[in-house]
Amino acid sequence: MQVSEAILSRFTCRAFLPRPVVRADIEAILDLASHSPSGGNLQPWRVWALSGAPLEALQADVKRKLGEGEFAELPPDYLLYPTVPKEPYATRRFDSGELMYAALGIERNDHVGRMDQVSRNYECFGAPAALFFAIDRDMQQGQWAELGMFINAVMLLARERGLHTAAIGAWSLWHRTVRAALQMPDDLILYCGMGIGHADLSAAVNTIRQPRAGLAEFTVFDGF
Ligand SMILES: Cc1cc2nc3c(=O)[nH]c(=O)nc-3n(C[C@H](O)[C@H](O)[C@H](O)COP(=O)(O)O)c2cc1C
Repeated sequence: MQVSEAILSRFTCRAFLPRPVVRADIEAILDLASHSPSGGNLQPWRVWALSGAPLEALQADVKRKLGEGEFAELPPDYLLYPTVPKEPYATRRFDSGELMYAALGIERNDHVGRMDQVSRNYECFGAPAALFFAIDRDMQQGQWAELGMFINAVMLLARERGLHTAAIGAWSLWHRTVRAALQMPDDLILYCGMGIGHADLSAAVNTIRQPRAGLAEFTVFDGF
């Protein structure tokens, strides 16, 4: 598979088939992704790979807490978004949610439907396996960017193996529960979870493709 094909065929998969993912595939993906670059070769990524009973127990724990009316463990370990989002980001975020909820047939005022979709994050959208990405608390913005590069490599390598992924930042809202379940040391910050598996391509939610701004909106060329 060409890199361009991996990039263009990746999307956030929000409906997976129950078909299992073998450990050897996850190992190969992580091993290859570890060739991602990092300043000073710090390789600041840490990963927990879960499947089966441990993943189900963690998901059940979070879903039980959600059912009790808790929405997050405060304070958060890091902020997912700017506190006051400005344009064009506010509109992009709003539009991406609307596109997703429209595909799911969930109306704006359907609070129960929207909450159900929130809770699907904690089922990893039905993925049989999940990855949890963490970074040392001491790490700086440079290393956070590098963790992102590593995660992108994971998503593209998954495509090469016929797998799809969903990065799920919502897991970071439950950092204490995840940390306890994974026995993750306190000096690590949970960045996000990720569902990985085979996409249910018949699901309407998997048909959406989020638009991208054109080159002119984010690039300055000079001297060409
Ligand atoms: C780090 C990260 C965290 C994300 N967290 C969530 C999430 O919690 N729930 C969700 O439904 N989508 C989540 N997404 C998916 C984004 O909404 C998605 O990448 C964006 O809308 C672009 O769509 P695409 O991935 O299908 O191209 C996340 C993506 C990234 C990169």
